[in-house]
Amino acid sequence: MTSPLQQHRPGLFLAFEGGDGAGKSTQAALLAEALAAQGRTVLRTREPGGTPIGEKLRSLVLDHGHGTIDARCEALIFAAARAAHGDQVIAPALARGDVVLTDRYIDSSVAYQGVGRGLGAERISALNEWATGGLWPDLTIVLDVDPEEGRVRRTAGDAAEDRLESEPDEFHLSIRAAFLDAAAAHPGRYLVLNARLSIQELAAQILDRVRMLLP
Ligand code: TYD
Repeated sequence: MTSPLQQHRPGLFLAFEGGDGAGKSTQAALLAEALAAQGRTVLRTREPGGTPIGEKLRSLVLDHGHGTIDARCEALIFAAARAAHGDQVIAPALARGDVVLTDRYIDSSVAYQGVGRGLGAERISALNEWATGGLWPDLTIVLDVDPEEGRVRRTAGDAAEDRLESEPDEFHLSIRAAFLDAAAAHPGRYLVLNARLSIQELAAQILDRVRMLLP
């Protein structure tokens, strides 16, 4: 795996990861706001999605009603969406010197498809290394959430669950462990925070760490 900091790109690439209902979007929005207030150009994006083809692939893989999508097909759809996202959106923004903030990235595939679906973390990591040409984040922020609590949070207000969210608790437990394993393997490139901290406390800790990475 190429060390992202060795790529000498002018921008900063940050990914938010965590189980469903961890509060990633809230924290991504707060960080984007704080960085913009400091005069940074921030590009906020999400996966699957971020490009026209990616949004189409998103609805194919997340919506119910497309018939059986087996694990390998699912992994390849996420990787295909990511290839477009990296080439069309993330790499150009980093080359311009922007801060790119993505809601989910490769670690979601490693956790959900590699571990949750049992395809193998290393295999999925290698597939995505190829799909993105080795475009890894400078920092991944993992919001660690207990799956049961995540389910309560995300179904508040009766939000319907997508194909992945509606998997049983054991699936979500294995995903939680996978994010923590990824962080433990490369501690310098991860910030793991307990999603139960208050919104303000999480935002402050994230901003502190990100500031250290900004030129
Ligand atoms: P997300 O956008 O976080 O869902 P929402 O905004 O509706 O809460 O993610 C959609 C789902 O896709 C989520 O359950 C995780 C899953 N996913 C994968 O299984 N693999 C991947 O590579 C990605 C990016 C997401």
